[in-house]
Amino acid sequence: MHFSQTILQIHRGFAYAEFVCILLYLIALFGVMFSYSGKITGFLRKISVFTMVFFHLQFLIGIVMLLGTSPFLDIIKNIGMGEVMKIKSLRFAYIEHPFSMFIGAVLVTMVNKKIKTKPRLSMGVFFLAILAVLLFFYALPFSKLVSP
Ligand code: HEM
Repeated sequence: MHFSQTILQIHRGFAYAEFVCILLYLIALFGVMFSYSGKITGFLRKISVFTMVFFHLQFLIGIVMLLGTSPFLDIIKNIGMGEVMKIKSLRFAYIEHPFSMFIGAVLVTMVNKKIKTKPRLSMGVFFLAILAVLLFFYALPFSKLVSP
């Protein structure tokens, strides 16, 4: 199998794992937020670490794909960035997807740092985590996951 195909398969494989992590992350967040004490659980701390690690892995693999194995740089050379921004499918694959997932990775990392040390989940940290999850679902090319 060619390297570009292998790395795409790996990126897709981790996407499934990240999807499961994000669902468990949501359950853990709402579980703590709607609990009487708001005390951060071991489950939330653990799933937060897994969610963060997969985001970081996907970011590293994504950068290799974006600048290495995907046709992105050739497309830029041929039609220019202006045209890429006008074409919805290209804009999503090479701008919105990487950028939103990158911001998601930053937010999840910030939240993980906060919940590692704090005993209770504050509303501010909760909303940062929800924003990261919303960015994830916005930028996830779901159709490519269900029918590769
Ligand atoms: C949790 C984070 C991420 C998830 C779950 C994810 C998921 C996916 C999925 C499911 C695909 C489609 C694979 C296919 O065609 O079958 C994809 C494609 C791609 N992703 Fe990600 N991704 C993530 C983060 C990133 C990041 C941070 C970048 C860049 C910095 C990136 C760059 C790309 C590129 C370049 C493609 C190929 C687009 C194409 O040629 O069609 N991804 N990603």
